[in-house]
Amino acid sequence: MATPTPTTSSLTTESEGLRPPVRRALLRWWTAHRRDLPWRNTRDPWAVLVSEVMLQQTQVDRVVPRWERFMARFPDPAAAASAGVAAVLDEWAGLGYNRRAVALHAAAVSCVEHHGGRVPDDLDGLRSLPGVGPYTARAVLAFAHHADVAVVDTNVGRVLARLIGRRLKANEAQLLADASVPAGAGWEWNQAVLDFGAAVCSARQPQCSTCPLRRWCSWSGGPGDDPARGSAGVTGGQSRFEGSDRQGRGRLVDALRTRAAIPQSELAAVAGWPDDAERALRVASGLVNDGLARRRRDGGIRRLG
Ligand code: ADE
Repeated sequence: MATPTPTTSSLTTESEGLRPPVRRALLRWWTAHRRDLPWRNTRDPWAVLVSEVMLQQTQVDRVVPRWERFMARFPDPAAAASAGVAAVLDEWAGLGYNRRAVALHAAAVSCVEHHGGRVPDDLDGLRSLPGVGPYTARAVLAFAHHADVAVVDTNVGRVLARLIGRRLKANEAQLLADASVPAGAGWEWNQAVLDFGAAVCSARQPQCSTCPLRRWCSWSGGPGDDPARGSAGVTGGQSRFEGSDRQGRGRLVDALRTRAAIPQSELAAVAGWPDDAERALRVASGLVNDGLARRRRDGGIRRLG
């Protein structure tokens, strides 16, 4: 395949970030290929926060209708906080990783109790919210407030690692990404990199032959190892679902949407492991610890609320 060495480097120095021509080429690509996603039409920090929490582990197409429904039901932190965690969890049905819903509800409560009902607008305040890590906090700053900070998730980390041609630790990726945000264009730039990572520089089928950044890319789909693989903190997709604890957790949480309780004697069958009561009990305890269910006296679980 193509030459692994780029014609021109993508960087001046790492502390200066991607070179201006690389940034311009990416933004030009985006002008023609940007996705029209509903959360891009709002600058409401709560709406942005909800979209980003949903997008953490669920695909864009699946998130679109669910985000719209969620926002109609819980238009602000106060609505989610007062509805209660069971209602938020109920609205989350089918999105998976239910812990996100519990954390989002707790974040809404924190906004009401400590921030006058608003989502905080600074990094420390955002990071103090349950479930809000470095990625989500920066996403709210960039997408609600147009701040010139960089969001770094797996996709962004992959694009950067390939461009510069080496594995990146999470903090290196963040520094490089922050230094690459064009001044005054934090909103566009971050959306552009996310779209580029999804459409061109994808994990499994990168479109190197038509890539607008090809001439600056150190990897370009060349014969060497993909530098994105093994980059600390920026790779590692979801682990296998079939047969996992996560699958059993999901079955138990789903069952609690239609019934009030699951006695201990039924946990294993409901979790889908009829011969492994011990595993079912452990997973049920995990749900209780994570705030997704309450414990029953008999060792079973019951619905929140
Ligand atoms: N993934 C995470 N945030 C996103 C966004 N704002 N648009 C598209 N995909 C995303």
